[in-house]
Amino acid sequence: MDDLNKLNHKIEIKPFTPNLGGVIRGIDLSKKLNDVDLTTVKEAFKKYQVLFFQKQSEIPPEIQVHLGKSFGPLHVHPAAPTMKGHPEIFEIHTHKDSKISNGTENFHSDVSCDKHPPLGTMLQLHILPECGGDTLFTNMYMAYDCLSENMKMFLQNLKAWHESEHIYKGRYSERGVSDKDILCPSSLHPVIRTHPETGKKAIFVNRSFTTKIDGMTSSESKAILNFLFDHCEDLRFQIRYRWNKNDMAFWDNRCTMHRAVWDYYPMERKGRRVTIKGDEPK
Ligand code: SIN
Repeated sequence: MDDLNKLNHKIEIKPFTPNLGGVIRGIDLSKKLNDVDLTTVKEAFKKYQVLFFQKQSEIPPEIQVHLGKSFGPLHVHPAAPTMKGHPEIFEIHTHKDSKISNGTENFHSDVSCDKHPPLGTMLQLHILPECGGDTLFTNMYMAYDCLSENMKMFLQNLKAWHESEHIYKGRYSERGVSDKDILCPSSLHPVIRTHPETGKKAIFVNRSFTTKIDGMTSSESKAILNFLFDHCEDLRFQIRYRWNKNDMAFWDNRCTMHRAVWDYYPMERKGRRVTIKGDEPK
């Protein structure tokens, strides 16, 4: 039994793989959590980077919002369709008439184009395809740790642009969101960030939003970014999660990336996502 399981006998937490993820059972997210359970979840979040809460029932939207707020103020997506009456909830929904998937089909850290990108994301899925629709995650601490000392030094003070117009423009028009109503933020962030809670370093670039390393020629930037994108997707750092109905995943955008696989068309996949505001990456 590890320290977290000793701290809270009711909750069972097991590693998903040796390198990333924790599976949590014995906690009911459809009700407000008590302080002991919340502390356990906070500790597990730091330790495992992405948590999979299993054996859940559907979480009422206001409870999911309340749970998100226990980690900090909520982030409102600049472009995605939100739930009626709940602007903090992004409704994930793909079905037979969808032309695009929910998120981007590349590994990414959510909305990394924001000046203050989300700390974490809580996604519960209520409708699943019969098979497929897995989500992949990758460990960005481990990706950093596996670089050579020379490469770490080279990257240490670099910054990169994270942009979003190429992703968000027109993306959600079939879900009734006009380009007039959206924001397309862009921000300059360090290529290597230090996690504000664990103090560990992580690579912070991704194929979806990161467009250029500042102060480099286009070809230099492209070469370095392509190396980093490929490196971060090394199978050793990755996991692939197969969802059960009403599982909730809670991932740390500061030290993981994720990618949803849209291999289930024309089947339906639906859920609700809440993101928590983060700080400016440093
Ligand atoms: C996302 O990319 O944020 C959505 C993840 C998913 O649908 O599994």
